[in-house]
Amino acid sequence: MSMSTRSALEASGRIFRSKGISRRVRQITISAIKEMPLLASRLEGCVSLGQGIPSFPTPPHIVEAVCHALRDLPESGKYTLGPGMARLREAIAEHLQRDKGIHAAPDREICVTVGAMEALSAAVLTVVDRGDEVILPSPNYASHIEQVLLAEGVPVFVPLGAEDWQLDVEAMARAVTPRTRSIIVCNPHNPTGANFREADLRALAALAVERDLFVIADETYDFLTFDGQPHFSLATLPELKDRIIATYSFSKKYAMTGWRVGYVHASEGVLDQIMKVHDAVAICAPAVSQIAALAALEGPQECVAEIRGVLERRRNLICSSLDRLKGYFSYVRPRGAYYLMARMTHPGVSSMDLALRLLNEARVITIPGAAFGPEGEQHIRLSFGGLESEIVEALKRMEAWLDRQAFS
Ligand SMILES: Cc1ncc(COP(=O)(O)O)c(C=O)c1O
Repeated sequence: MSMSTRSALEASGRIFRSKGISRRVRQITISAIKEMPLLASRLEGCVSLGQGIPSFPTPPHIVEAVCHALRDLPESGKYTLGPGMARLREAIAEHLQRDKGIHAAPDREICVTVGAMEALSAAVLTVVDRGDEVILPSPNYASHIEQVLLAEGVPVFVPLGAEDWQLDVEAMARAVTPRTRSIIVCNPHNPTGANFREADLRALAALAVERDLFVIADETYDFLTFDGQPHFSLATLPELKDRIIATYSFSKKYAMTGWRVGYVHASEGVLDQIMKVHDAVAICAPAVSQIAALAALEGPQECVAEIRGVLERRRNLICSSLDRLKGYFSYVRPRGAYYLMARMTHPGVSSMDLALRLLNEARVITIPGAAFGPEGEQHIRLSFGGLESEIVEALKRMEAWLDRQAFS
């Protein structure tokens, strides 16, 4: 945790105790993505471009299926099998086959998890030992960093291309050492909004095969690309079959962030190992959330296209609003997910200071780029998952605040 977050939290009365706390936990932090809303909850009238919570309610047919199950199905309040309800795993396998041409055996290769987050943590704990190196693009989703540290691994940051935030696979190859175990890649990418090129993803797969590495593919935003761009999934590559762990989420695709349900797909031998972690930390994903996930997969899919359409319009809105702040920020237009990294053109302002000042003085929640790895510094991450009116208001406040500062 940076000193400024620590002092902000200390000032807000939160006490730190480290005696008796494990080294593994002491060295990780709650990501700034969650800390900033916590700090904001102590202030009046903030608008958020912070945590990636889309504004959409869970579609009514999903809610209805759960209400029905709670009334009429006694098993909705009980543990399910560890890997999840059989019918849900079958629906997931059909979905992977239909949407991506991926063959997954529902009884041996899929486990339903407590969001993609649990799937990712379990994946990292399964393949990373103390001191093992894990290659992460920088900037990168902050929780991947903490998950590697929690497994006592060593994050090795490889910068994304600053011009376009695309993967630099040659630099990744140079970063591989005998201690490297895995590469974690999330596509479309949080926090930059990049949609990685198929050729680079294929080169990354070749690198993993050549250097005998696992690939952890975070597919949370696989449905969410803009401008008609296709999404290329590493999980479709047969050469990765026994070395890829692909994690998926219902959170953003079906507006189900609060239901905490996702899944992991890996080959049988690897999934057997992941299952041990899943059993130790979760037993199973919540039964009601699995029922909701099943309704999401079996129900009409128009909601997914609707969410994509609305978010593309919000992408356009935030970009045109940011264009008015050219004197302060530059950015790469997002092609997927719903984030962008706004680069402060004025040097010498730390991302944490900027985010804290925007919060305290302009009442706008943003996420300091430093939370996403070294290349995140000099940036703040803006989420455009919120309502148009919130985006407009937040940018208006930022503009007014920036105009009052000495830098331009
Ligand atoms: C890249 C990425 N991976 C994983 C997650 C967590 O997903 P879930 O809600 O399914 O745990 C998020 C949430 O924002 C995310 O942005």
